[in-house]
Amino acid sequence: MDTAASDPTGTATADDEAARDALVGRLFEAALGTFDLAALHIGERLGLYPALAEGPRTAPELAAATGTAPRYIREWLEQQAVTGILAVDDTDAGEDERRYSLPNGHREVLLHPESLAFMAPVARLMMGMAAQTPSLIDAFRTGAGLSWEAYGADVREGQASMNRPMFANLLGPDWLGSIPDIDARLRADPPARVADIAVGGGWSAIALARAYPKIHVDGLDLDPSSIDLARANLATTEVADRVTFSTRDAADPGLAGQYDLATIFEAVHDFSQPVAVLSAVRNLLAPGGSLLVADERVAEQFTAPGDAVERFMYGFSFLLCLPNVLVDDPSAGIGTVMRPSVLRRIATEAGFSRVDVLPIEADFWRFYRLVK
Ligand SMILES: C[S@@+](CC[C@H](N)C(=O)[O-])C[C@H]1O[C@@H](n2cnc3c(N)ncnc32)[C@H](O)[C@@H]1O
Repeated sequence: MDTAASDPTGTATADDEAARDALVGRLFEAALGTFDLAALHIGERLGLYPALAEGPRTAPELAAATGTAPRYIREWLEQQAVTGILAVDDTDAGEDERRYSLPNGHREVLLHPESLAFMAPVARLMMGMAAQTPSLIDAFRTGAGLSWEAYGADVREGQASMNRPMFANLLGPDWLGSIPDIDARLRADPPARVADIAVGGGWSAIALARAYPKIHVDGLDLDPSSIDLARANLATTEVADRVTFSTRDAADPGLAGQYDLATIFEAVHDFSQPVAVLSAVRNLLAPGGSLLVADERVAEQFTAPGDAVERFMYGFSFLLCLPNVLVDDPSAGIGTVMRPSVLRRIATEAGFSRVDVLPIEADFWRFYRLVK
């Protein structure tokens, strides 16, 4: 890089120049990553990957199979091949004769919604959040919030689809299976009742019902569109007779019921009134009942630079979760980076007698058991 032009004062050290060049490279890589996510989002929304999974296609064939415009599809296919997500049989063939295919090793990542390797929804989520940037710039000036509803279907569905594989594969056998008394109660008679609070797209409630064939699960969420999504997801399963979904504010002290277990997955940091929610949930617990909370596995304290989990969570925080909670005034205004000490304080203020951190291994979440 031209040092004289970028450092007119001539004070840059060799370390400064190395740091400058590293940042240039890092931002260039981030731009490439952003293009990959945008292309993935388009491919996912238009059903291009399932069509390619049926067999290699030329651009005109893929366009015809998916009801899309051939010239756009040609550009998309070329981008996907150049970036290494798709394979191409003969780069020298004419632009409409080349055949593109989905490598076997990429299928699970792009097409299998219950695989732990499924990453396709991250694109929908990221693009949906980024679409709100103009409103967010205003919000940074005014302090106003942006509602979960305002982020729209891409964020709602992307978030639900991102968590679905963990619930489908780990919630029953690994997570609850490692808590012997809860696991035993969920298998016993009379059938246990579980309240799944802030249930979003409903996959956790569905996974609970699948893992424990006797239990009944009531899922609730403040957001009506999330409950519509949860009901649509439930309709595709075989557990619809043991799961209900309703639109409710979990902070409502009028919530009624008697539950052996309550769960809150990745949502305590999203509550504008977390103490009110945990108090209301505490009142729902039968004697001996517990609340299981899973929230972000962020560090105990702020440190910088942080690791990938910390960076990931701060990204979600400024772009989504903090604006969501600031919709309400007053608001606890927590945001995605909820340190364990914050959860302990909220739980104590809500009247829970004990907060145990559970020895469950998970890359992104920490598990807490709140005892009534
Ligand atoms: C990050 S999503 C998590 C959804 C789901 N638990 C999952 O893991 O996929 C957070 C959810 O909290 C819900 N939420 C926020 N405040 C709430 C409240 N006061 N009562 C009920 N749900 C609430 C939002 O509508 C949103 O669906």
